[in-house]
Amino acid sequence: VCRVLVLISGNGSNLQAIMDQALPKAPYQVVGVISNKADAYGLVRARAAGIASHYVMVNPEESRADYDLRLSEAIEQLQPDLIVLAGFMRILSDELVKAYQGRMINIHPSLLPKFTGLHTHQRAIEAGEQEHGASVHFVTPTLDAGPVILQAKVPVFDDDTVELLAERVHEQEHAILPLVVKWFAEGRLKMLDGKAWLDNQPLGAAGYA
Ligand code: GAR
Repeated sequence: VCRVLVLISGNGSNLQAIMDQALPKAPYQVVGVISNKADAYGLVRARAAGIASHYVMVNPEESRADYDLRLSEAIEQLQPDLIVLAGFMRILSDELVKAYQGRMINIHPSLLPKFTGLHTHQRAIEAGEQEHGASVHFVTPTLDAGPVILQAKVPVFDDDTVELLAERVHEQEHAILPLVVKWFAEGRLKMLDGKAWLDNQPLGAAGYA
C-alpha cells in the first residue's frame, strides 16, 4: 500500500478529499499530515481521521535550509512513498525537492503555466480570462513549473468574484487531486526526463487530456 504524506498550511479541504478516497477505495493510506502553521484546520481534520499530525514550527530566525532540515526529519520518520503539497504555502529548498523528485506533487489553483504564485483567482479575473482552473503537477525546483499531470477547467463569468471563482476551482481540486494520488498508488504515474508519464505514455503540457 502506498504511504501518502500530506503537507498543508490551512483549511485542508484537499487533504480531506484525499483522506476520503483512501483505502479501501484506492490503494493508498495517509500516514501523516505536516503543517507549518499551528492553527491549520487541516490538523483538526487529520486528528479526527485518526491520522498522525505534526506541526513543524517556523522559527523566523532560522534559514530556509535549517527549517527544511527539520522538515525533512519529520518527513523521513513517516517513510512516505508520495508527498502531496495540498495548500502548503511555503517554498521548499531545491535540496528537499530534489530528494523527493518524482515522489512529490502539488495542487496549484490555476491552469499552469498561467498564474504561478499567489492570488491566482484575482489575477485570472483581472486578466479577463474566460477559463480558469487547477493543476496537479510534479514538484521540481522551479516554483509551480514541474510537469503537469492533470488539469481541471472552470468557466469565469462576467460578474464573477474571487470567492465564487475560488469555490468553483476548489470543487474541481477535490476531484483531480485524489485521482492523481490514486494513479500514483497504482504505479501508473512516473516522472521521467522532465515529463509526467501515465501508463507509459508521456503527458502533454496540460497533463492528461
Ligand atoms: C487550494 O486551492 C490550493 O490549490 C492552493 O491552496 C488551496 C488550499 O486549500 N494552493 C496554493 O495556492 C499553492 N501555492 P485547502 O487547504 O482547503 O486544501
